[in-house]
This record gives sequence, structure tokens and C-alpha cells, in this order.
Amino acid sequence: GKSGYDHFMLKEIHEQPRALRQCLQGRVDELGGRVSLDLDLDVERVQFVACGTSYHAALYGAALFRAAGVPAQAFFAHEYAVATPPIEDDLVVGVSQSGETADTLSALREARGRGARTLAVTNVVGSTMARECDDALYIRSGPEIGVAASKTFSAQLAALNLLALHTVGAGDDDRREVIAALRDLPGDVQALLDDTDAEAVAREYVDSDGFFFIGRDKSHPVALEGALKLKEISYAHAEGFPAGELKHGTLALVTEDTPVFAVVTGDGEAARKTIGNVKEVEARGAPVVAVTDGESDVARYADHVLEVPETHARTAAVLANIQLQLVAYHVANELGRSIDKPRNLAKSVTVE
Ligand code: F6R
Repeated sequence: GKSGYDHFMLKEIHEQPRALRQCLQGRVDELGGRVSLDLDLDVERVQFVACGTSYHAALYGAALFRAAGVPAQAFFAHEYAVATPPIEDDLVVGVSQSGETADTLSALREARGRGARTLAVTNVVGSTMARECDDALYIRSGPEIGVAASKTFSAQLAALNLLALHTVGAGDDDRREVIAALRDLPGDVQALLDDTDAEAVAREYVDSDGFFFIGRDKSHPVALEGALKLKEISYAHAEGFPAGELKHGTLALVTEDTPVFAVVTGDGEAARKTIGNVKEVEARGAPVVAVTDGESDVARYADHVLEVPETHARTAAVLANIQLQLVAYHVANELGRSIDKPRNLAKSVTVE
């Protein structure tokens, strides 16, 4: 049942500390600073294939491999067959909660046909994807009933961190810091869930004309996912994109009735540039909601702040996304939508 929650989605959002703990359990050796997965892979190049929310996880995963100096790219599974890049000893990773998405299965079959080694990153043991791929990495988030993915996305991001650390390392990031941040992630998620202003923000903006989500680097997939979640369950129009793209067109749609959610973590170059974009929308009168760890001064330019606990840049993406899940949930709830079963959508899409 829903354990006292109004919707499975809200229950599953609140199950994320446990989902993450299960994903990490027995795979992270904190003392040794090591990750051990039951996978023996020699990764020279990697391509990810996925759809929807899982594609956003794939974008994030590809960035982790690139950070370690490994050429990596994420593809929409349904575009892969027509635009397959040449494969030489590549690993092709299918990211799929269900392990049954027809588009992703078909991209993986195409890859296998061309001689790639394939890996399924999935939640479902014994799924078609897990059976057909050479290897499987289970995200172990527990079953998800709500049609809109929530805890499985967070567990996908955690599992992709483990995969990257296990096969290619942390690149320029400090391995021990990443591992410590992963270890602390379930507790950080709990702290966020215990103290969030997402519902108040949702109430404030529920009747907006449209919603924009911007972020750079690891916050880019978070922006995409924030918009998708809101569209799916509230039917509001929303768009997410890399923050730098805003001024190349979409800025024309920005008004005082279109809140802009800016995902800004850390205080580096990406944060600085996104704050520049925040100023652009502020000048057009748009309300700004900053989703931030407070390391930069983005709050100065924001009408509302959704805080995330201080953590590593990698895990900040997981936390920022959870604030956006809550915003989407509460907007949809205010509008009385069918949150667990949105119109026109099915939990797994088994046709191409
Ligand atoms: C969004 C959502 C969908 C799925 C997509 C892929 O909330 O659930 O976008 O992510 O249909 O499904 P899987 O991950 O099962 O391959």
C-alpha cells in the first residue's frame, strides 16, 4: 500500500534514502576507498542508450566517464539505430528502470550486432534487458509503482557513479571524496526531505503560464528531468535545457508568469555562468527559484531558494533533482492530477 502517503509517487520520493542505501550496500568499501562490483570490464569507449528519465541518467553517466578521460556519449535509444556511431571495442550501456523498453532493447540489439559488449543498468532482475545483455548492474531501488520515475532515477545516478568508479575511476575528482559523498547521500537525502520548501514554491507558482529549468554540466540532466517530471504529472508546459542555451531563443518566452528554476551547485565556472543566465531572466521579470547548496551567491538573485545539503558536485545532482521531484509532485497535487497514473502514459513502453 501507500503507507499513509496520498500517492505512490510521494511514498517513493520518501523511499529514496533506503533506495540509495540498497544501491550502495556492499559495493563501497569506504576504508579502502574502493568500489567493488561484480563486473569485469575493460572500458575504452562507452555509449549509453536510454529513453526519458533514464536518458537523463545516461547523460549524467556519460559525463562521469568523460571526466575520467574516457570518450563517452549518451544517445536516445530510438535515434541510435539511424545514427549509430562506428563501434570498436565499445561498451554500450542500456539504462532502463524496467529493462523492458522496446526502443532501448532494440538499440542494444543493434549494438550487439555490430560487435559491442553490452551492459544493462536496470532495476529489474531477470528483465529482458538483463537477460539479453552481456552483463547487468542492478540499481536495487526496490519496485516503483508510480508511473513517473523518482527513486529509480536517483538510484540510477548512484549506480552510474559506482560503475564509473569501478571501471575507469574518478578522473580529476578525488576518489575518496566521491566515495564519502556517496556514503553520506542517503542521510543527506533524508535531511532534505525533512526540511524542504518545495510545497510552498509549488503553491506559489501552480498557475504559471510555463516553467523553465536551467543548469550546466551535471545540473543539465537535472534541469531536463525537472521539466519532464513536471510535464508528466501536472500537464503544465515545461522546458529544461542547458543554461547557456536560454539566450539563443527560449528567452523570448520568458515573462513574469514563467518561473525559471536554476540549478546551481558549487561555486565554480558553471555556477558563475548560470548566475549570469539567472540575471538575464530576472531582468525580464521572471521569478527565479534557485536550487542550490548555498556555495555561490545565486540566492541574491532568486525569489525562492530550495536548498540542498552541501556535498560533492556529483551527488549534488541527486539532491537538486529531489527538490524538483517535490515541486512537480506538489504542483500536480494542487491541480488535482492523477499523479500515479498520468494520462496517456504507461509504466513501461514496450512498443517502438
Ligand atoms: C519518466 C519515465 C519515462 C521512462 C522511459 C524509459 O518518469 O518514467 O520517461 O524513464 O519510458 O523507461 P525505462 O527506464 O523503463 O527504460
